Amino acid sequence: MKKDLLVMGIETSCDETAVAIIKNEHEILANVVASQIESHKRFGGVVPEIASRHHVEQITIVLEEALNKAGLTFQELDAIAVTEGPGLVGALLIGVNAAKALAFAHNLPLVPVHHIAGHIYANRLVTEMKFPLLALVVSGGHTELVYMKEHGHFEVIGETRDDAAGEAFDKVARTLNMPYPGGPHIDRLAQEGNPVIDLPRAWLEEGSYDFSFSGLKSAVINTVHNAEQRGEKIAPEDLAASFQKSVIDVLVKKAERAVAEYGVKQLLLAGGVAANKGLRDALKEAFADKGEIELIIPPVSLCTDNAAMIAAAGSIMFKKGKRAELALNANPGLEIEKYNN
Ligand code: KG4
Ligand code: ZN
Repeated sequence: MKKDLLVMGIETSCDETAVAIIKNEHEILANVVASQIESHKRFGGVVPEIASRHHVEQITIVLEEALNKAGLTFQELDAIAVTEGPGLVGALLIGVNAAKALAFAHNLPLVPVHHIAGHIYANRLVTEMKFPLLALVVSGGHTELVYMKEHGHFEVIGETRDDAAGEAFDKVARTLNMPYPGGPHIDRLAQEGNPVIDLPRAWLEEGSYDFSFSGLKSAVINTVHNAEQRGEKIAPEDLAASFQKSVIDVLVKKAERAVAEYGVKQLLLAGGVAANKGLRDALKEAFADKGEIELIIPPVSLCTDNAAMIAAAGSIMFKKGKRAELALNANPGLEIEKYNN
């Protein structure tokens, strides 16, 4: 009988300390996430120093909990996968050092994982991936369309030229006096409003798959300030709905165009903003009549940062022979195309 492949994933790139164990590439045995959101809220964003300190405090507890949940010991694992970048350097270092220490102590292979590759592979926890495919990655730090001709090979065909989609959500939420992270609050508010306020959509040059959200963000802020100066009141739910629709219109249209041009079998949605109900619904509607082309959307819990996605990507990379030396360092600006196998 073939032995099960058991891979542990460790993720500490931003404000979640996360450890997961995945069996045979896709079965989640444990997926533990310790969120620090409460600690960063009062500062309106993630404070890197505080993030690192929390990771140090949490990492051994989260590791132990994951092993307990899976009912496994380190000796039974086949590999340790860890996010090497991109992310906050001090935060990444905690996960990388924990992974290195464990790999050394238990004589296990160490597999480096790119954070965005992890987000894309959250989809592997839901279904098989069929190539070629496109991934629409929308997170707090990235907005990209990624083409994959095979496992472990990533080609960025478009990316944001300024703010990431999640960043725009968070900044607009701050303008509307909502707590960090603002994306889920805008999402909720948008469901109560109507997109009646005219806001720009940056389509950029003909044929471009790049994105730009800073103009939209400024337009929202100006709309709020102008109304304040005139003593008028704008319904925040309508503003949230209008902003969200501007973001979604561009994301969906560009994804639809790319899917047709590249002749892919699947469109995968990935990243924290993939939790957005408006975006999920708009994509489902747009892909309802696309015949053979599958739209894959992971459950909300696998869209925001977690280690199951790191273990899922790590399992594939492990099988493809990707390994890190024990000299592995955190790589805060790691580009996905540099990570290609
Ligand atoms: O992927 P992620 O957890 O972390 C990064 O790698 O950046 O993404 C976090 C981002 C934040 O900007 C957050 O506001 C956004 O995802 N987000 C959402 C929703 N849930 C999380 N944005 C819009 N609607 C949501 N429901
Ligand atoms: Zn992320």
